[in-house]
Amino acid sequence: MSKSDIFANLGSIKDKDLSVERISVGKVISYADGIVFTDELQDVQAGELVTFDSGVFGLALNLEKNRVGIIVLSGLAKIKTGDFVYRTGKILSINVSDEIVGRVIDPLGQAEDGKSAIAVGKEMFLEKIAPGVIDREGVNQPLQTGVKAVDALIPIGRGQRELIIGDRNTGKSSIALASILNQKGQDVICIYVAIGQKKSTLAQFIQTLEDKGAMSYTTVVSASASEPASLQFLAPYSGQAVAEYFLEQGKDVLIVFDDLSKHAQAYREISLLLKRPSGREAYPGDVFYLHSRLLERACKLNKENGGGSITALPIIETQANDVSAYIPTNVISITDGQIYLETDLFNSGMRPAINIGLSVSRVGSAAQLKAMKQVSGSLKLDLAQFRELAAFAQFSSDLDSATKKLLERGKRVSEILKQPWDLQMSVADQVLMIFAAVNGYLDEVEVTDLADWEIDYLNFAKSSNPKLVAYLLTGAKIEGTQEEALEKLIKDFKKAHPRFYKKEV
Ligand SMILES: Nc1ncnc2c1ncn2[C@@H]1O[C@H](COP(=O)(O)OP(=O)(O)OP(=O)(O)O)[C@@H](O)[C@H]1O
Ligand SMILES: [Mg+2]
Repeated sequence: MSKSDIFANLGSIKDKDLSVERISVGKVISYADGIVFTDELQDVQAGELVTFDSGVFGLALNLEKNRVGIIVLSGLAKIKTGDFVYRTGKILSINVSDEIVGRVIDPLGQAEDGKSAIAVGKEMFLEKIAPGVIDREGVNQPLQTGVKAVDALIPIGRGQRELIIGDRNTGKSSIALASILNQKGQDVICIYVAIGQKKSTLAQFIQTLEDKGAMSYTTVVSASASEPASLQFLAPYSGQAVAEYFLEQGKDVLIVFDDLSKHAQAYREISLLLKRPSGREAYPGDVFYLHSRLLERACKLNKENGGGSITALPIIETQANDVSAYIPTNVISITDGQIYLETDLFNSGMRPAINIGLSVSRVGSAAQLKAMKQVSGSLKLDLAQFRELAAFAQFSSDLDSATKKLLERGKRVSEILKQPWDLQMSVADQVLMIFAAVNGYLDEVEVTDLADWEIDYLNFAKSSNPKLVAYLLTGAKIEGTQEEALEKLIKDFKKAHPRFYKKEV
């Protein structure tokens, strides 16, 4: 059949199967590795959805003079040379409804968890222009992660983009997981986008979410390592589309991209197969745009626009702590700060392995709870002094008593920042602990006893002064009365638990 015959028959084809409108027609000239090249497909636009004879969908990415490069989104095996390709005039979208919460979907919005299809709701576009500055307002509400070190020192606000960066196996996913678990009962919808991970790792992650009761407010978008690069490339945009569905309802959303290094690699694979010119580290020239157009869509909207927010936690995996590689520097420059994790710290038992000196949060402190802000000021100072002294105290044996005291304080302050990944700490618990540490109440407790001290003390606080704990939970400023109550609490605890206080000071 010639092309003109096809045009003549267009009406009858249209009636036959696909519901999409076919605008113009091309022919497959080659196909391999998930990439199809067709001869000219008149007026096709970059990012336009196209369909093939077999009903398979593709995405037109390369518009060249005499041919069009298309990535196939499913069923590559069904495509043959000579097949016809039709424009649809649409850009890619997924179906999102309220029912998507608690589900696992693939990047095209199909259920991946073996349950029924997602009920028809709204068509959300994968690519969208980010809200402009007029529609936004400053980050002014905290997003508590439940991780002491993060909430105290690198606070995250709703609508912020905070990068989690570190080598493999340093606890990156665990921080994201902890943040999701801590949103229970906070009226925050969570979205976890898994890109290029092993299916088994993801299954375990979802199991943890289920066990901890977090699936009731979480959606997982999965494009595992076994999926084609095209789907891995689309996954973060699908997650973002789901997030925007809830943003439109004025809700707060937390979205985790785990991880964008693999996303960039999938995009590099596609770009090389499309024969695009490669640049630094063989990534195409527009790899910055790949991530910036995604992360720009994280936002805090003003009241007139519903007041919702999307907080993004992208994850980047580095090689040998090299943050100056191409993709890490790109994403560092796009985000509002980074949580930097280190293998050495992780192996020395400092978990979460956050390098406090290199981690920053550029906007979150504006939204930090008052009580946290009060106690974390001295915490930062103690830690900075400790870092400075610790390096040089290694070489000298006789230290003056002031230095020794600072070192002892520093050891305890670092020690209390350790936290198991599955322990979510409330604001009250965090303030209780940091208050004790920075005011020197831990100086007389052995470092090795601190973990037990923490458990006993927090329980003691809850039972002996629930009113104070309730006050601290609000995150409101600690005034004179609360300060007195805190001091009294620690003194009472000391009397009740003498076993922690054998050390001479
Ligand atoms: N705070 C913590 N306390 C104790 N163990 C932890 C902590 N954080 C993470 N871990 C453990 O460290 C291991 C690696 O964590 P995780 O998978 O989060 O790291 P990752 O950097 O995401 O790794 P990958 O590079 O494989 O993605 C896990 O077994 C996890 O349980
Ligand atoms: Mg991980």
